[in-house]
Amino acid sequence: MEQQSKQIKALIELHRGLERLGPGDAAFTKHLLSILPDLPQNPCIVDLGSGTGAGTRILADWYKTKITAVDFSRPFLEELQTYAKADGLDHLIRAEEGDIGNLSWPAASIDLLWSEGAAYSLTFEGALKAWRPLMAPNGLAAISEISWFTKKVPEPVLKYWEKAYPAIASETENSKLAMGAGFEVIGIHRLPTEAWWTNYYEPLKERMNVLRPSADPVMQNVIDETEMEIELFKNCKDSYGYSFYLLKAV
Ligand SMILES: C[S@@+](CC[C@H](N)C(=O)[O-])C[C@H]1O[C@@H](n2cnc3c(N)ncnc32)[C@H](O)[C@@H]1O
Repeated sequence: MEQQSKQIKALIELHRGLERLGPGDAAFTKHLLSILPDLPQNPCIVDLGSGTGAGTRILADWYKTKITAVDFSRPFLEELQTYAKADGLDHLIRAEEGDIGNLSWPAASIDLLWSEGAAYSLTFEGALKAWRPLMAPNGLAAISEISWFTKKVPEPVLKYWEKAYPAIASETENSKLAMGAGFEVIGIHRLPTEAWWTNYYEPLKERMNVLRPSADPVMQNVIDETEMEIELFKNCKDSYGYSFYLLKAV
């Protein structure tokens, strides 16, 4: 347990100062927002597992309304607030430190739930089940999840994900999980490959270069694993990636 919390601390330290804590892209996010159905007046919008707010700030700017960002990492939320202030959006963002698997909000209250690169912490199925009761009637959710893109997955990729995230599934399987949890699937959109490199892996590699010389064994291990993950993606990016599931509570 102590080892695990040291590892989480090292992961937070590795991502400190990065604008994105996972693959993502502002233009892609805006495209998704442009195709979502309209929201009601004064919508309740949340970003779950917001990290430093890459998505939160786009949501705030797009809808010009209050966004609640939830994350269990205080350092990330502090960075979110700094970025939001710099963008003149801080008045629209409420940062809440908490567990996205244990939200004590009123039932049927969320009009738009955004969650990018964070549902995995509950598993996609666990996230859908935990969040569905919070959705307003016809409420919308945009949730990204690592998904298989092919049926024939190379052995090294299978081996890696069996250990890293055994719940990884295909888009068809994930759609079934969404429907089973009480959502209609209104679209599935794959994050472009460049969003992994330009906005995430390249800044992350620079950060690893800074930390490597003084890394303790825990940080060294986190760096080694991250390098492995990057190498795997470089060679096998056609096998898996992030899919955004656009869902409507039914
Ligand atoms: C890969 S990052 C993505 C952050 C952000 N959405 C982005 O795209 O840059 C995942 C985030 O989820 C947060 N997280 C993971 N599990 C969580 C939980 N159970 N409760 C709250 N936050 C969680 C982490 O602290 C981290 O900030």
